Amino acid sequence: MSNALERLQDLEPSTQEFRDAVLAGLGQRQRTLPCKFFYDAEGSRLFDQICELPEYYPTRTELALLADRAGEIADLIGPRARLVEFGSGAGIKIRLLLKALDRPAAYVPVDISREHLMMAAADLARDFPKLQIAPICADYTKPFALPASSGLQPQTTVGFFPGSTIGNFTAVEARAFLTRARRLLGPGSSMVVGVDLHKDEKILVPAYDDAAGVTAAFNLNLLVRINRELGADFALDQFAHEARWNDALGRIEMHLVSRSDQMVHIGASCFGFRAGETIHTENSHKYTLDQFRAMAVETGYTPRAAWTDAAGLFSVHMLDA
Ligand code: AVI
Repeated sequence: MSNALERLQDLEPSTQEFRDAVLAGLGQRQRTLPCKFFYDAEGSRLFDQICELPEYYPTRTELALLADRAGEIADLIGPRARLVEFGSGAGIKIRLLLKALDRPAAYVPVDISREHLMMAAADLARDFPKLQIAPICADYTKPFALPASSGLQPQTTVGFFPGSTIGNFTAVEARAFLTRARRLLGPGSSMVVGVDLHKDEKILVPAYDDAAGVTAAFNLNLLVRINRELGADFALDQFAHEARWNDALGRIEMHLVSRSDQMVHIGASCFGFRAGETIHTENSHKYTLDQFRAMAVETGYTPRAAWTDAAGLFSVHMLDA
């Protein structure tokens, strides 16, 4: 392993936090589970598979857009940048930026999935031996600090939040995230954000309910995780994956639908489900360019540039903090 890979800063959520969130979510009238808990090792692996599905257009569209525009983005960023990626995952998109940038100083990948983070960071360290890499395992919706830079002094700091993960937040959460990120990155920094755009339901629903059933497995894996880590007894064949478009709120919702009247135990807690009742597991909001720009302005950024693919499926925004 390269010397440029620094020791992991480990702020992974505890089992107690997971239990509290699950019990609180399942206790609500519309039962919910926070989507950030999808990403255990298996969930991260399934998500990587989703990204390659023919129906799931966001990843390949954003990758093509970044590949096309990396030079332009790198010119706007300038030399010796420190990149902070929120939800770094497999670390494929950052490579496009790193290759285009002039002497990038450091890379801080932040991800909730520890194994996945460490593997991706080690791979990157092999391919970019001069780059300082300081991984942080954390829930980036909670406060954390950036490591003091060792080695090359960065000239600028850039947040990178690709994949339209911003869409997994409600509008209130998205504003809170953008505001916190602006403060974390500091004065003179900027943000590069991938944002999925409004489009026909006929494209959106299959993207979240693919023919091969990978998204269904990803959704159900949350119950597998709760069974394993919290000693629950969800019967996996008694819940079905559903993806629906909520037009009023401009979002795809993922649910797990109870196939029967049933009881589920989590430790000492017991939850009754009626047939057809759902657990709401994820929102994926879709924006127009103007809606996202307005949100950026409201949270203290100045939109600098935005790029979309020819079909208008996806957008990448550069914002000055
Ligand atoms: C991570 N996030 C942006 C994905 C999305 O499209 O909302 C998660 C996902 N859920 C189902 N498919 C992909």
